[in-house]
Amino acid sequence: QRTSQSIARSDIITGSPQNNVTDTIFDKLGTNLHQRKDHPLGIIKEAIFEYFEQSDPGKFKLFEDLYPVVTTAQNFDELLIPADHVSRSDNDTYYVDGETVLRCHTSAHQAELLREKHKNFLVIGDVYRRDTIDATHYPVFHQMEGVKIFEPSDWEGSGLGEVEYVREDLKRTLEGLAKHLFGDVECRWVDAYFPFTDPSIELEIFFNDEWLEVLGCGVMQQQILDGNYGEGKRAWAFGLGIERLAMILFDIPDIRLFWSEDERFLKQFKAGDLSSKFKSFSKFPPCNKDVAFWISEDFTENNLCETVRGIAGDIVEEVKLIDEFANPKTGKTSHCYRIVYRSMERSLTDEEINSVQDKVRSALEDELKVELR
Ligand code: PHE
Repeated sequence: QRTSQSIARSDIITGSPQNNVTDTIFDKLGTNLHQRKDHPLGIIKEAIFEYFEQSDPGKFKLFEDLYPVVTTAQNFDELLIPADHVSRSDNDTYYVDGETVLRCHTSAHQAELLREKHKNFLVIGDVYRRDTIDATHYPVFHQMEGVKIFEPSDWEGSGLGEVEYVREDLKRTLEGLAKHLFGDVECRWVDAYFPFTDPSIELEIFFNDEWLEVLGCGVMQQQILDGNYGEGKRAWAFGLGIERLAMILFDIPDIRLFWSEDERFLKQFKAGDLSSKFKSFSKFPPCNKDVAFWISEDFTENNLCETVRGIAGDIVEEVKLIDEFANPKTGKTSHCYRIVYRSMERSLTDEEINSVQDKVRSALEDELKVELR
């Protein structure tokens, strides 16, 4: 079995017409931030594993080095994700070729691990999604997946129906996890939809005056369990975003910080310590650049963001639509976007920003085929 340590560029950036993986994304593969003991992501991983170890000693097996390049069967089909589901589009997912993708969730490993007859497991890894840009979104982030299987002897005599029994165990387990990480936080459950669970629910926690969604979960679709593990059982599954939890727990204001190699960031966290609070070590002024254009027919914001990230790398902080109008005569639509440049690590010069912005403008015309105004 291949691990995430040995990845060649030619395996990922291929000549396939469907290929949409950029160098910025390729550079992240194999970094495995979650395996660094003193990194905030590694600290959260350990804390979650420790919680499962305490509640079910020796039961949960942790997989943390599964190959992040998977088939569309693993990422979608085996999870019963419908053929027309948006997550399959190349606007949302990174395709290596027609049937290979960078996993967009750790659920991509559920079916294979069930076939290998693992009964209780956790999977942590980097996942990849094309998305818009802001302080909490980055095209690579980390998820932890959990699966637990139940036997008839577990629910029989409980006085509950089997689905109800499993769902109650799931809620109790995850509320316990939230308390283990955050102390006494307020939790609430909301209904959700995932093709691979039924019923599906989401856990939200109250933080900084806001309800924040921290994980999705549910009772595993019976077809997935029957077909891969064996009949007569029941299971739950959950998937949570590690950055999301770490930003809340450690007061980390910007998701790009997780990728920083700056000592002033890394030195603030220590294995086993959930109590550190991030102290910002520098503030550099942002620089705004606006760009207005008539959009092309197949223009999408994700494509725009991918282009900007490809040129500016991590000095882009935000891309936001600030104006939009349609010309009734020509039928053309104009968008004005504000690109905010700011480095986490240094002051940017006007010269540097102007040169990046010029490249962005050319790329908008050449790659996205929009008409600059
Ligand atoms: N894979 C889902 C996501 O990424 C989360 C999830 C996992 C939901 C397992 C239900 C069960 O959003």
